[in-house]
Amino acid sequence: MPRYSITTFGCQMNVHDSERMHDVLRCAGYTEAGSAEEADVLVLNTCSVREKAEQKLRSEVGRLARWKRERADRVLVVAGCVAQQEGERLLKQMRAIDVVVGPDNIPELPGLLGDLAIGGLPIARTVFDLDAPRFLVASPPSPSSSSSPRAAPTAFVTVMKGCDERCSFCIVPHTRGPERYRPSDEIVAEIAALVAAGTREVTLLGQTVNSYRDPLGALPRAPGASADDPDESEFAALLRRVAADVPGLARLRYTSPHPRHLTPSLVLAHAELPVLPRHVHMPVQSGSDRVLRRMIRRYTRAEYVARTRALVEAVPGLTLSTDIIVGFPGETEDDFAATLSLVREVGFKGLFGFKYSRRPHTPALKLPDDVPEGVKGERLARLFEASEALLGAHLSDLVGTTQEVLVEGRDKERGHGGAGGALWSGRTGRHEIAHIDGAGELDLLGEVVEVSITRANKHSLQAELTEAARAAARPRQRGGLEPRPARRSLPVVAAEGG
Ligand code: 5AD
Repeated sequence: MPRYSITTFGCQMNVHDSERMHDVLRCAGYTEAGSAEEADVLVLNTCSVREKAEQKLRSEVGRLARWKRERADRVLVVAGCVAQQEGERLLKQMRAIDVVVGPDNIPELPGLLGDLAIGGLPIARTVFDLDAPRFLVASPPSPSSSSSPRAAPTAFVTVMKGCDERCSFCIVPHTRGPERYRPSDEIVAEIAALVAAGTREVTLLGQTVNSYRDPLGALPRAPGASADDPDESEFAALLRRVAADVPGLARLRYTSPHPRHLTPSLVLAHAELPVLPRHVHMPVQSGSDRVLRRMIRRYTRAEYVARTRALVEAVPGLTLSTDIIVGFPGETEDDFAATLSLVREVGFKGLFGFKYSRRPHTPALKLPDDVPEGVKGERLARLFEASEALLGAHLSDLVGTTQEVLVEGRDKERGHGGAGGALWSGRTGRHEIAHIDGAGELDLLGEVVEVSITRANKHSLQAELTEAARAAARPRQRGGLEPRPARRSLPVVAAEGG
């Protein structure tokens, strides 16, 4: 049986697409290789949102050319956004590549590999499924079969794909195509199946997830939704339907929303649905109206502040995280100062910051990339300094409080290296990472447990089970069922570089 390996770059959508590639390859008779070096088929699932990400692909292919030369039947596949962006050109530019496959063509991957195996030429398939959009579904392990592993405690479910916004810096409309929505019945059925198999938390995925509309028109209008608000969508109605139809779901998150669709109906859903955790990631990009206008974000700073304030007033204690670009064309020191003041005004508890990078096919290409690299770097450093201070103060404030943590996995498996010797780690309702000390003898995977916070680390919390949670927990069975390892990581409440 041929063995495959998938390397993933980029966003949660790519992580999700990689999981679907695992599924289609396994169904076609491939097995997962222990390492990339042992694979017969190597897939690079790529990102092109910033130039640095695209360069990563090019250097990786250069490195893999030698791996390919070692055996004639080895196959190199490039998937994801660079595949979609470059198509056939990639085959011409980099001879080591055999197959280029776009995000909407994942189901065709086994067929393309089959053609290649019988002597076909290198091929690119990058066609959007505009007429009949496909949303691939993971097959969760069956709850009745004792031999199958439990489903991971957290899962992604796609609700829409593509993007109709025209943010001037962004390549996504080009690499992911126009917006296409998945029927709400299918979304609810997938979530119900995941929950039946053991999943506790679902993150709804979409490039502008809160622009969702049900293509079958099957959702009742949500309370607070206005028929004449051009920013209104059916996202609040979808959240309400999932909450009502899948009562076993512990947490329902979503990413990434656009501030334009943070409408009163969505705020009301947050106020009324306990399944929605008290944290929202809401990309703002800049705090300067002049820059927001040139970015074609279609909201002002004041609108962003008013909308997020309404959310925090409706859900006391709700935290926000965000994405920010520094050094967009024409960004002055005053513009950047406005961004810093917005970060402090909103009090973001997590921030992804990026230096502006020119992308092909984007409207901002017409503007000169005139902020020097050194200035971009210095602004990014000042941005992170501000956000680290906010996160640090927030985490310190939590010491001594009681929080509910959804245990997502073992520290070692999740690459945290067992901070403080903790075995289990997970997320609070507000998405802070919590490491749980002294619970090694208990089986906490997938449980929502009550902990007291003992210490604040730089980007995470150290915690202990409360007496009540310890008394209620299951002992760990040696040699018992092992969880299916979670492939994803979602470090939202932490500052990251671009
Ligand atoms: N340059 C820098 N950052 C970008 N992003 C998107 N496009 C660019 C670009 N051309 C950032 C935005 C977005 C995040 C996913 O990546 O902040 O929200």
